Amino acid sequence: MTKLHILYENEAWLAPLVKALEDRKVPYLLHFMNGGGFDLTSEPPEGIFLNRMSPSSHTRGHQRGVRYVSELLNWLQFYGRRVINGSTAFDLELSKVKQDLALRRQGILTPHTIVAVGIDEIKSAGQEMPLPFITKHNQGGKGLGVRLFSDRHSFEEYLANGEFVDDPGGITLLQEYIEPHEPHITRVEIVAGEVVMAIHSSTEGGFELCPAVDCEDEELFCPASGVGKFRPAKIDVKDSLILQYIQMMEVNNIDVAGIEFIEDSQGNRYTYDINGTTNYNAEVEAELGIEGMGKIAELAERLLAAEYPKLIQSSTVTNGEQFTTAPAAEIRTLSPND
Ligand SMILES: Nc1ncnc2c1ncn2[C@@H]1O[C@H](COP(=O)(O)OP(=O)(O)O)[C@@H](O)[C@H]1O
Ligand SMILES: [Mg+2]
Repeated sequence: MTKLHILYENEAWLAPLVKALEDRKVPYLLHFMNGGGFDLTSEPPEGIFLNRMSPSSHTRGHQRGVRYVSELLNWLQFYGRRVINGSTAFDLELSKVKQDLALRRQGILTPHTIVAVGIDEIKSAGQEMPLPFITKHNQGGKGLGVRLFSDRHSFEEYLANGEFVDDPGGITLLQEYIEPHEPHITRVEIVAGEVVMAIHSSTEGGFELCPAVDCEDEELFCPASGVGKFRPAKIDVKDSLILQYIQMMEVNNIDVAGIEFIEDSQGNRYTYDINGTTNYNAEVEAELGIEGMGKIAELAERLLAAEYPKLIQSSTVTNGEQFTTAPAAEIRTLSPND
């Protein structure tokens, strides 16, 4: 049966998406992606694919998913399957280095960033980088490895005392700290070239609350889990920065993203994070009367209608068979019959 195939890792983020699809009667199938397999010489199942694989999946004990999905996307696209946030988008999702370059290629201002691999290199980068600076993982998400340093001594201590947790690929970034003029960052949510909403995320609470793997505050920077931390932000859809974001997404085949920037006291806006596997904050959605996942569901619906026109015609006849909610754990592989 032709449907939307959802590649995911974190079940906790599924409910709003599933609701949006069921409300619109979009047929879907969930694929939990921490293992499985496929035959390179056989055709993938028919349908549209939505990549919701999280770059922080390794922190939930799912070590294999990111590499598996990276390879699976190549196979899907080889056979011409349309993937929402396909391989180019996913490459960016896994690399803040690539994000920085993609942003700068579009003329977007980013904070000065240096890459350091290996503890000696990280130490010497910490000597060179102007203060204050931030550390972060190249494969980010939920604030992994994000710490603020205002003096070199505390950075050295951090590296020496066992608090430092390396990026899964061993790539640490040291980045110029941008002091926000007001105590928030702005995150702009875009789906298929359309601004869905913009939010302010409070920066109060500081960086001492380290969102490390075992920390209770590990979802500190995740809009899905934040309560009271996120507020609607006013944004002009014709703002030049927004237009640059839309262009950057088009150039890099990114269908869905939440893009973050910080404005300093001079009015400079520095962009530093592109979240393809984005989540929408329920409080903000309720306040604005907007359903973010609804926009993704509508995109999937449009793509299914364009590629499989017969499916949409037949789905006007309500047919329970079309709404697959098979438990994710049963679907370990993608077979041509899915
Ligand atoms: N260069 C920076 N200057 C000031 N604050 C930053 C900077 N980079 C990140 N932050 C803060 O840390 C948070 C997490 O960093 P981010 O790069 O978005 O990582 P992640 O991909 O894990 O969300 C940001 O939302 C922001 O509050
Ligand atoms: Mg972020």
